[in-house]
Amino acid sequence: MRLRINADPSGWLYKLLTRVFGLRRKPVPLQPAGSVTVPLKPGKIRLIAGIDFGTYSTKILARKSGEATARLVLIDQPDSEYPSIVTPSLVRIAGEKIYFGMDAYKLAEGKLYRYLKKELLPGISWTRSGPEPDVLIAAYLAWVMGQTKQFCDYQFGENAYELVFQLAAPMANLGHAGLKKRYLKIAAAAWTAVFAPGSPIIGQGEPAWAFLKMIEGLLDKPNAPPGQIQLLPETIAPIVSLAQNSKLQDGIYLVVDMGSGTTELSVNEVRSAENRIICYFDQSIELGDLQFKDAFNMEGRIEELMKEVRRTWREGYEAAPEKEIWNSLRVLLAGGGVQRAAVRGAIERDHRQIMYPWPAVSDTHYSVDIHWPAGIDHNGAGEKALYKHGFLFAVAHGLTFERHEWPIVFR
Ligand SMILES: Nc1ncnc2c1ncn2[C@@H]1O[C@H](COP(=O)(O)OP(=O)(O)OP(=O)(O)O)[C@@H](O)[C@H]1O
Ligand SMILES: [Mg+2]
Repeated sequence: MRLRINADPSGWLYKLLTRVFGLRRKPVPLQPAGSVTVPLKPGKIRLIAGIDFGTYSTKILARKSGEATARLVLIDQPDSEYPSIVTPSLVRIAGEKIYFGMDAYKLAEGKLYRYLKKELLPGISWTRSGPEPDVLIAAYLAWVMGQTKQFCDYQFGENAYELVFQLAAPMANLGHAGLKKRYLKIAAAAWTAVFAPGSPIIGQGEPAWAFLKMIEGLLDKPNAPPGQIQLLPETIAPIVSLAQNSKLQDGIYLVVDMGSGTTELSVNEVRSAENRIICYFDQSIELGDLQFKDAFNMEGRIEELMKEVRRTWREGYEAAPEKEIWNSLRVLLAGGGVQRAAVRGAIERDHRQIMYPWPAVSDTHYSVDIHWPAGIDHNGAGEKALYKHGFLFAVAHGLTFERHEWPIVFR
């Protein structure tokens, strides 16, 4: 009989039991996260919009259920700093009016709210003045959902579809229950602001205080129908995206998705014959490109990141029953943060430390590549930018798949 434990993989009990006694964690099923399939009305198609609300920018894709290609959803005007296929995660209040995305970026007056997603992370207390994070984020997501609806009306025909939104929360599979609940409440309030009967589409320059008060009221009693809004951990989405690459060879894959505010890490085994990806360990850490931007001690920051990369590998290695195939590791990078030469360089260089405790270092295989999500329709306008910035879409891409299509098993 094999004994199993069900301890927090980051906790001391788990480490003690696995290291000292060699016990194994119980396989952890993927968190259902309130997954309910919405019954489809006759004559309608089912659309899934994946919204990756990032610390820096928001990425949106929509997929007709069952189709191989997801469509780039462009809801904003291109401008210099941001890739043209993303929407800045910005809110501005100026002259009693509220602005979102690129309009918020371009206006000079008033107060700009940025890095809002970071204000949601567990243990963060926000100190700035102005509306609460939940209210500003729900307002922003309401604008995003409304614009996405308009895009879908135009692309697929008004009333021709049922639209489900899947959003990612910055957490691991066994993530923070409180954060998930809070995020779902915010998303449901945003949904209600857009889809409650008679709601107007939210544009730029709405009267700020009346609009935010309305959002605040919805946060007190959110009532999105079950299944219309779904949430999944941000570590899972890139693995789901990865699973769609039919050319993937069997073996061990470490995914590093470094955004502006957080980095998501996971270590997985691809078994193509069984159409399975087994995730042995995943975590979301509060260390992103922002911490590297003005880093006083760049080497210290790099070491912080590499410590977590090594930990991800080690936890995965120790949880896996078969060690033989772990002499080969493919690292896949996603997110804007890995474009930083120092970060990428460290990941490319440090394989001896990462692949501990594999003894025969000379027999190991190690490669580092960028993960390009397979099957995104650039929708005309986004062709060049998608070619250049496709790696930013790992999360949004994974978010557009139906849950029953995920070939993922958790240990
Ligand atoms: N070529 C690039 N394209 C886009 N962003 C880049 C690029 N190079 C570096 N960056 C930096 O990457 C960050 C944005 O990355 P990304 O869009 O993945 O973050 P995010 O998804 O908004 O954040 P998070 O996932 O942490 O919430 C910014 O800090 C940006 O300056
Ligand atoms: Mg991101």
